[in-house]
Amino acid sequence: VTFLRSDYKEPAFTIKSVDLDIALIPARTIVVNRMMMQRSAGSQNQPLVLHGEEQELVSVRVNGEIIREYELTPQSLTLHNLPDNFELSITSANAPEKNTTLMGLYVSNGNFFTQCEAEGFRRITYFLDRPDVMATYQVTLRALKNDFPVLLSNGNLIKQEELGNGWHSAVWQDPFPKPSYLFALVAGKLQAIQRTIKSQSGKEKLLQVWVESKDLDKTEHAMDSLIASIKWDEERFGLELDLDRFMIVAVGDFNMGAMENKGLNIFNTKFVLAKPETASDVDYGNVESVVAHEYFHNWTGNRVTCRDWFQLSLKEGLTVFRDQEFSADQMGSESGRAVKRIEDVRVLRQVQFPEDAGPMAHPIRPDSYQEINNFYTVTVYEKGSEVVRMQQTLLGREGFRKGMDLYFKRHDGQAVTCDDFVAAMADANQKDLTQFKRWYSQAGTPRVKVEESFVSGTYQVTLTQSCPATPGQDKKEPFHIPLLYRLIGDSASSEQLFELTESSQTITVPGLSKKPVLSINRNFSAPVVLDFEQPESELLILLKEDDDAFNRWEAAQKLFMRSILNGKALDAELVSALRAILRDAALDPAFKDLLFTLPAESYLYEQVSVIDPQAIHQARRQVRGQLATALQDDWLWAYQEHQTPGSYKPDAKSAGKRSLKNLALNMLADSGYTKTDDIAFAQYQSANNMTDQYGALAVLVNFSLSHAQACLSNFHEQFKSDALVIDKWFALQATRQIDLQDTSAVLTNVLALRKHPDFNIKNPNRARSLIHAFCMNNPGAFHQPSAETYQFWAEHVIELNHINPQVAARLARALDRWKQFAPNYQVHMKSALEFISKQMNLSSDVAEVIQKALNS
Ligand code: ARG
Ligand code: ZN
Repeated sequence: VTFLRSDYKEPAFTIKSVDLDIALIPARTIVVNRMMMQRSAGSQNQPLVLHGEEQELVSVRVNGEIIREYELTPQSLTLHNLPDNFELSITSANAPEKNTTLMGLYVSNGNFFTQCEAEGFRRITYFLDRPDVMATYQVTLRALKNDFPVLLSNGNLIKQEELGNGWHSAVWQDPFPKPSYLFALVAGKLQAIQRTIKSQSGKEKLLQVWVESKDLDKTEHAMDSLIASIKWDEERFGLELDLDRFMIVAVGDFNMGAMENKGLNIFNTKFVLAKPETASDVDYGNVESVVAHEYFHNWTGNRVTCRDWFQLSLKEGLTVFRDQEFSADQMGSESGRAVKRIEDVRVLRQVQFPEDAGPMAHPIRPDSYQEINNFYTVTVYEKGSEVVRMQQTLLGREGFRKGMDLYFKRHDGQAVTCDDFVAAMADANQKDLTQFKRWYSQAGTPRVKVEESFVSGTYQVTLTQSCPATPGQDKKEPFHIPLLYRLIGDSASSEQLFELTESSQTITVPGLSKKPVLSINRNFSAPVVLDFEQPESELLILLKEDDDAFNRWEAAQKLFMRSILNGKALDAELVSALRAILRDAALDPAFKDLLFTLPAESYLYEQVSVIDPQAIHQARRQVRGQLATALQDDWLWAYQEHQTPGSYKPDAKSAGKRSLKNLALNMLADSGYTKTDDIAFAQYQSANNMTDQYGALAVLVNFSLSHAQACLSNFHEQFKSDALVIDKWFALQATRQIDLQDTSAVLTNVLALRKHPDFNIKNPNRARSLIHAFCMNNPGAFHQPSAETYQFWAEHVIELNHINPQVAARLARALDRWKQFAPNYQVHMKSALEFISKQMNLSSDVAEVIQKALNS
């Protein structure tokens, strides 16, 4: 079934209030759901069609009377001849311990958890499970006290009781009307750290982070991040926490990163737990940004929510933008902000650009879907954030804030659309954003061709935009593209904003004595591809002198990319410029680390018309090898110069030093420096934090140094009781760099690990650490001109399809771009895709992805 945005209809009934009474038993949980229903104006004679899946219907009552006339299907419950106002009471049962999909109510390690976004609530009870039906909730939870001592739900705790026979209960009330996707409950053996803070207006707030008792020592950073997020939203947007109590709960089995349930955020343990010995600097940063993301949803998502799921980017794009800005501010310096920007753009290019060019391409506000779970994408999230960022660039920070204020003034408590958001931005600033809105409706990454001329003192740049066809969209209208630019070498020139709105426009600057060097799309002001044959000599000038850190980094990336794609050695002038940068004490080590990290293979794939993955892999390794060898002395210097002795601190400055130091260690290994084995082994043994211990282990393993096996075993032994670290142990082996003499060794190892006693395909983090990591993060090992790796992929998509369709569908995306590969790869990819498509009982999640890939 395909759902269309244009089919939106207001609901025939609304639900004013919900009273849930839930008896939590892992094998058979009973839910009594009492709803106050109201017929909407203009819906006379229409039946009430409730969503409901995977439940056993026990009874239906209207105003207390049992009803036996209804239609029941595997997806719905329909009632006819209803009055305009009535109480509907439905009793149903479900089996949480058998629920491996991790949607709705499920059991993880003996405790109960829920995940309702997007359409999980309908697995708990029959309901109008759509975001524009908002109700107030009172929830009574009952359970055996010994097994489930802690009972949590949204809002405020108003009562706790002992019930006899070892049972107890808790009653929770959420004062804010909410859509069903924000409902949550948690029950089980958990413990919390807590803090009280005073919010902006002086109100006391209770903050809690709930985890299993063994993890209590890893909650401090999440709590600090929550407090920082609360403060930041007050300062930057004037938005205050609206509940007296705010809870975060960590769970080891979770499909996504985390979920913003009102007052009761539920998180993948990966994005809560952190202590120096077990979490890397990257983990610390992720915890901070995911905690912030979910907290920020309290306003952008919960107080103002989506009218329908086509509007998902309304809350996700905006909330990603907010968490990116928060993390940038937490970096504590201008160079830190630039580092964060570069990291975000790398993700966009490595993952979103390919999505925009492939069979699943969709606008940030899609027009259709078969399975909404497939649309929690980098396009909706990350490109969505870029589209919000462009509005801030066009309106300025203050203008953007005015737009946000108007958005909340108009829509607090409502379920609205992307149009409503842009209207608030436009109206608050008297700016016409009509053309800008094409970013919401057109898919594909726009390309901007840059052509320069310099004739008798007059400099001209002609900018010509185009956008490739995407599924269902052959022709595109011109976008409104904000381009920040500056002419380097013309001392009078400052940074300017050019708004490209036509298919082609020219900027003219007269009266110059020499041709300037163009620095354009500064700070990546628009998510576009620039087709710009800028001469190498000019890229070198940008690399050395550009005052925009992003474009300085970009110049290096372009120079590296040309070397890789043209199979041409790095020339002496470039090498000496790079050496100067590496040795420049004024530059941020984190920036240097990014500058010397070559473009990812997935981004290189997008630069060629036919992908030969092994050729690209080897060409990239060659350039890296050259960088390693030519600067060997400098890497040794960098390694020694960026040590961080003393106790571990996760701040941006220390993390930057560690990242550059560990890059230096990689480079030393790559340069063939013979002492690397000993240096890495010493670092592995003396490390007091995960970044350094794992960093050393990764070098030993990736370069097959002699201490590799012993350290891998030691690492497993040391951390065998810590699931998140064991995930790292699997992922390192799955993403291990291939041996060019034996390219199938990684697959052989992955097949062995698949049988390891610690492997458990039902746990999403573990499945992703081995299967997804190998198929999606190790292109050199995965893309072989033979059938084995693609067959491995297909078998796992099928196995996961029956366990957890969302985790399976994510893996299914690995062959999205198969049509772009060279024929000797394509044949095997195609048979693997067809093998999956012929299976019985494919979930809508997997079916949509595979079908779109095959039809591309
Ligand atoms: N709203 C959550 C977040 O972005 C993600 C929930 C995703 N759920 C899903 N079924 N795909 O923080
Ligand atoms: Zn989100």
